[in-house]
This record gives sequence, C-alpha cells and structure tokens, in this order.
Amino acid sequence: MKITKAVIPAAGFGTRFLPATKAVPKEMLPIIDKPTIQYIAEEAIRAGITDMLIITSRGKDAIVNHFDRAFELETILERDNKHELLDAVREVSSRLDVHFIRQQEQKGLGHAVLYAKSFIGNEPFAVMLGDDVVDSEEPCIGQLMRQFEKCESTVLGVQRVGMEHVSKYGIVGCEDMGEGLYKVNTMVEKPKPTDAPSDIAVLGRYILTPGIFGCLEKTPKGAGGEIQLTDGIVMLGETEDIYAYNFEGRRYDIGNKQGFLQATVDFALKRPDLRDEFADYIIKIADSLR
Ligand code: G1P
Repeated sequence: MKITKAVIPAAGFGTRFLPATKAVPKEMLPIIDKPTIQYIAEEAIRAGITDMLIITSRGKDAIVNHFDRAFELETILERDNKHELLDAVREVSSRLDVHFIRQQEQKGLGHAVLYAKSFIGNEPFAVMLGDDVVDSEEPCIGQLMRQFEKCESTVLGVQRVGMEHVSKYGIVGCEDMGEGLYKVNTMVEKPKPTDAPSDIAVLGRYILTPGIFGCLEKTPKGAGGEIQLTDGIVMLGETEDIYAYNFEGRRYDIGNKQGFLQATVDFALKRPDLRDEFADYIIKIADSLR
C-alpha cells in the first residue's frame, strides 16, 4: 500500500531555544534562509507524500501562515520579475496539501500523534519529527517507505548513537536481519545506559500502521509523565511485527544548539551561492583558534 500522508508534530514549547521561541515557533527558526519545518516538508515531497498534517498548538500561527499563499508578496515579486524568490515562496504550498490541527493540551508525543487518527483513517502513514533534519541522497522517510513495501509493517528510522547518548532517545532491542533492517523485540524511551537494550536509537522518522491509534488510546503516561509514542509502539508490537531500518544520511539534532549550529554551517558549505566566501571565513576562524 502506498504511503501518501505524513504527520508532523509541532506543538512543543521549544524551551531549549528561549527567548527566540517566546513569540516565534521553534519550527520557524531558519537554517540559513528556510524555516526548519520546510526542510521536513521538502523531504516529504521528495518521498512522494501528498498530504501533510501538522499538529500545532496555541501561538504557532506563523507555521500556518508559512504554508499559506501570500498574495500581496507574490504580486510584488511577480511585478518586479523576482522569479527565483517567487518560486521559493510558492514552492511547498503548491506541491503539498498541508492540513492543521491544534493539540489542546501538551501530553506528549503519543498524545499528539493520536490527533491524526481521523485524518489518517485506516492506512499506513509517516511521522516526521521537526527536531531531526536528515541530509541524505534518498529522502530519509522515502528509505523507510521502501522498507515498508517489503515488510508491510511498522518501520522505525534508526541509527547508532553511542551508549553515552541513549538517555535522549527511544532505544530499540532488535535482531539484525541484514541490509540495514532489524526486527524489533523491545523498545525503551530514554533509558539509562545500564537499562538500554542497545545504542540503536529512533531518530524522528516512523512509518506506522493505523493499529497504532488503538494502542495510543490505551497507552498510560510513561517517561517524563507523558504519553509516549514509544510505549504505543511497544503495545503495537504485541500484535504486529515492528521493524527498524538503519537509514543512510547525516542526521542533525536541531532541537539542540550544537546540532543547530552544525546544520547551519554544513548546509551553508553545501550552498553554491554561499560556499566559497563562507569556507574562506571558516578557515580563517579555525586558524585563529589554533
Ligand atoms: C522523541 C521520541 C524519542 C525519539 C526522539 C528522536 O523524543 O520520544 O523516542 O528517539 O524524539 O529525536 P524527544 O526528542 O521529543 O524528547
């Protein structure tokens, strides 16, 4: 079955980036000149997603505006023959149907995903977390979709993170099936290194079957007092197979300041219009730090 819908939870407060996120949603903070949520939307488009549901909350209207048409601005850019900018402003909204729903209370990632139940209906779908931006040849969510075609079951996007980082993630205990695919036996949300079944972490990309909704409805509060998507997936695993796929690509944790800085520098160095001058600058700085 072809996956055409993606869910993007974007209701969090963004406390790690205060005061920037007091009035601006964290998903709108730019890496260079593009809001971070647009990188997620572009990954979805490249993978063939046609409908995206963004779970927002109060104070996040800038996200809604970003994916809307901006007629005054577009008219002026058109009049002034600024076609490149016009394309940049129009691109995503013309290639993707973006839908919104507001999470009324912040009760965790599992609770947020449950808001997608009627939008998704009875089909498999993607979940993409905005704090994880993946730079890869084949879009990360597309890699998981390709695995889904083979196993027709839930597929989680994973990479090894090292035991010192396991307490930040959902960690899987699994069996290696070869070619990057694992069969998941257990999953723990943010374990201590001593309790972690491995250092293989779920990094913000999921293909889920609709069975997840019934599980999330029954999932009690877990780590951090929140309804965890991880716990819902563990419950789903009681009746369905769960797989994990070690996706190719460099993943940036942009919910973290170091990760955000690294993404900004790396993305700038990949941009033909910025690369040369910026590389010279970085080399100069690096020399002065030696
Ligand atoms: C969430 C998930 C966690 C996952 C992580 C990936 O945690 O709960 O399982 O590993 O995203 O970034 P959060 O970072 O929102 O605390």
